[in-house]
Amino acid sequence: MEPGASTGCSARTLAACVIRGIVLGASVIALHLVGPAAIPSLPPLDAVRRRLRRRRRRPVRVYMDGCFDMMHYGHCNALRQARALGDELIVGVISDDEIKANKGPPVTPLHERMIMVRAVKWVDDIIPDAPYAITEEFMNKLFTEYNIDYIIHGDDPCLLPDGTDAYALAKKAGRYKQIKRTEGVSTTDIVGRMLLCVRERSSSDAHNHSSLQRQFSSGHGQKVDDSGSGSGTRVSHFLPTSRRIVQFSNSRGPGPDSRIVYIDGAFDLFHAGHVEILRLARELGDFLLVGIHTDQTISSTRGRHRPIMNLHERSLSVLACRYVDEVIIGAPWDVSKDMITTFNISLVVHGTIAENMDFMEDDSNPYAVPIAMGIYRRLESPLDITTSTIIRRIVANHEAYQKRNEKKEASEKKYYESKSFVNGE
Ligand SMILES: *[C@@H]1O[C@H](CO)[C@@H](O)[C@H](O)[C@H]1NC(C)=O
Ligand SMILES: *[C@@H]1O[C@H](CO)[C@@H](O)[C@H](O)[C@H]1NC(C)=O
Repeated sequence: MEPGASTGCSARTLAACVIRGIVLGASVIALHLVGPAAIPSLPPLDAVRRRLRRRRRRPVRVYMDGCFDMMHYGHCNALRQARALGDELIVGVISDDEIKANKGPPVTPLHERMIMVRAVKWVDDIIPDAPYAITEEFMNKLFTEYNIDYIIHGDDPCLLPDGTDAYALAKKAGRYKQIKRTEGVSTTDIVGRMLLCVRERSSSDAHNHSSLQRQFSSGHGQKVDDSGSGSGTRVSHFLPTSRRIVQFSNSRGPGPDSRIVYIDGAFDLFHAGHVEILRLARELGDFLLVGIHTDQTISSTRGRHRPIMNLHERSLSVLACRYVDEVIIGAPWDVSKDMITTFNISLVVHGTIAENMDFMEDDSNPYAVPIAMGIYRRLESPLDITTSTIIRRIVANHEAYQKRNEKKEASEKKYYESKSFVNGE
């Protein structure tokens, strides 16, 4: 007998069994499908059993909405918590008109906010143009059309202009669940940091910016140095814990034959331009490794008020992005041979729209090694947005933001005054 003959035979038998199993399984399913239609009135017990079976099979869908204007890792963490309360997370992104009517103009237009939200790895689907307040009509649409089981919101009160609870209807229907607010960051705080950075540049606008900056940053009981000396200006409540980083990380490393793509940068004020270049970079391989430069590196190239977000904050924003597999928290400026070997990097990429393109004229090109190795590629950036774009938008609209934040400031102040223990979830 040939050595392979008996094993070949048993493999064939096994395959036959498997095929028969599938056919058998399929016919059982078919029986179930015709079952209810064929029998006009089912006994109540069967109906209950059927409903239970359906419930077990159907994933629990949860809904969360928001403006997601100038999205940061606090938003990402809320989405992560919301997703943990179900199997699928559907996110409603509020329209530009609704934001404008309720809070003043958004910094990021809807299409950019959609790119940002869609890129968060805990988001399964989005509903664009969601209303600011959940009306009874929209709530019913969520339950019937989108098959939503629960509506999720943070534990900070969300009041409608008439002073009523925006989620009262969902609560009454028993379809509401709550998550904890993420400590340590707010849009107001981030805007304050941005204005500091602009103030330094143009002293002619000094008065405007400093009063604005006070508006944006004083609601936290935090000290902001307003003297313009530049010292003690970086104030953040954010305390990075190892647990938070683990919660945001993918626990998987590259597979044995993975093609590893490397991209580095500041990724400050993580925006739609970053998301789009990361998406392209990820498409060039099986594993995307992102190097995030240190705060010192960025300050030395972009000025002392940069970065706006510190290394750990920037790392969390990048980690929350679905196109990213791993980050280096504090990557070196130069891509060295040793680094390429250590991480088995196959390709090093860099976008065409970036703030740190000055080095190209310089003879100390950080990509000299990968260029010499023939593994460097410049990627055409799909969106013309940089961190400076975002800062410019804020400054251009500062009066509107000022009004908008006066309201917000009061509620943030209240929150920080009344806050007690906040758990890490
Ligand atoms: C403040 O901003 C307004 C409008 O942008 C400008 O007209 C005014 O001159 C500025 N004031 C100062 C002191 O820079
Ligand atoms: C290194 O990457 C290449 C793909 O570029 C892959 O074929 C190879 O298996 C990787 N080596 C190791 C040790 O993972």
